[in-house]
Amino acid sequence: MKNYLITGGCGFIGSHFIKQQIADNLIVNFDKLTYSANPENLKPVTNHQNYQFIQGDILDSDLIFKILEQYQIDYLINFAAETHVDNSIANPDDFIMTNIVGTYRLLQSANKYYQNLYQSKQKNFRFLHVSTDEVFGSLNLDQLPFDESSNYQPNSPYSASKASSDHLVRAWWKTYKLPTIITNCSNNFGANQHQEKFIPTVIKSCLTNQKIPIYGSGKNIRDWIYVEDHCRGINLALKNGQIGEIYFFGGNYEITNLDLAKKICIILDQLKPKADGTSYQLQINFVKDRAGHDFRYAISNKKSFKHLGFKVFDNFEDNLLKTINSYLKIIK
Ligand SMILES: NC(=O)c1ccc[n+]([C@@H]2O[C@H](COP(=O)([O-])OP(=O)(O)OC[C@H]3O[C@@H](n4cnc5c(N)ncnc54)[C@H](O)[C@@H]3O)[C@@H](O)[C@H]2O)c1
Repeated sequence: MKNYLITGGCGFIGSHFIKQQIADNLIVNFDKLTYSANPENLKPVTNHQNYQFIQGDILDSDLIFKILEQYQIDYLINFAAETHVDNSIANPDDFIMTNIVGTYRLLQSANKYYQNLYQSKQKNFRFLHVSTDEVFGSLNLDQLPFDESSNYQPNSPYSASKASSDHLVRAWWKTYKLPTIITNCSNNFGANQHQEKFIPTVIKSCLTNQKIPIYGSGKNIRDWIYVEDHCRGINLALKNGQIGEIYFFGGNYEITNLDLAKKICIILDQLKPKADGTSYQLQINFVKDRAGHDFRYAISNKKSFKHLGFKVFDNFEDNLLKTINSYLKIIK
């Protein structure tokens, strides 16, 4: 049994991670409960004896330090972040504060805690920072997927704030020997994602008879990873990863936004046919492109496969079907 401090555990990915790990570990979930949090995601574990929730802001370094000491934390995993690119364009302030200053404060608290631990406990401590492939910028069609040696080239306030936090995490390892690991992953999908994100937006628009908004020509390409695979990867990095290393988790599934929207429409045509017999695809509506919209993200799993034994489990279609079914239960 390990003691985990999860920041941002009421969000999409953190809540899946907690549900995967709760049976065998003590989980302290520290979350500010911003608009993107959904405590309902954790309903199945709220009363579990291994679960503890604390509401707070990662900017509060004194509180974080107190929690690290009180629970004798082995693994700190930083999921807490502002995550929606469109919000970062409209209002970057929160992204700078949470993603950059918040990560800095977490590192400082963790370092203060780590430096005072007994050697035996120090050996096990890890600070794992969850990041994104968006920090590497945009690929053309003929370029190979990003790998762990790709250059940082963030293009949005969101990706720039995540890139900054990655650099801070690296520096705390290089300078203070805080045992950090960074993981970068591609677009996640699965149950319980905030409705502002692409797949829930498409499903909700279909089911509520709204236009399905597609940026630009819809030709932008994303590589999709199922959230459960990503969470398994993070745990592999904690258990088998080398301190100071970076590991990538991608889904090996690239698709244009337009093709993905069409795929969802076709599945919904089967699962929940429209009363008038037409396809949901008729609701697809192209809207003005996002400023600085990255054309393509793709990320290589070669290193995480070789060093961690990471691989994706089921195929994309099965996972997409599970995901759509989960939203069908909650969207009326
Ligand atoms: N969702 C994806 O496709 C994706 C892809 C790559 C990387 N990531 C990264 O994974 C992490 C988790 O993403 P997600 O999709 O679960 O995000 P999310 O937006 O669903 O959840 C973020 C959580 O962090 C909490 N939070 C925000 N600011 C906080 C603060 N200052 N202090 C404490 N808690 C705070 C929110 O309340 C929320 O519960 C993020 O770091 C994100 O950059 C996500």
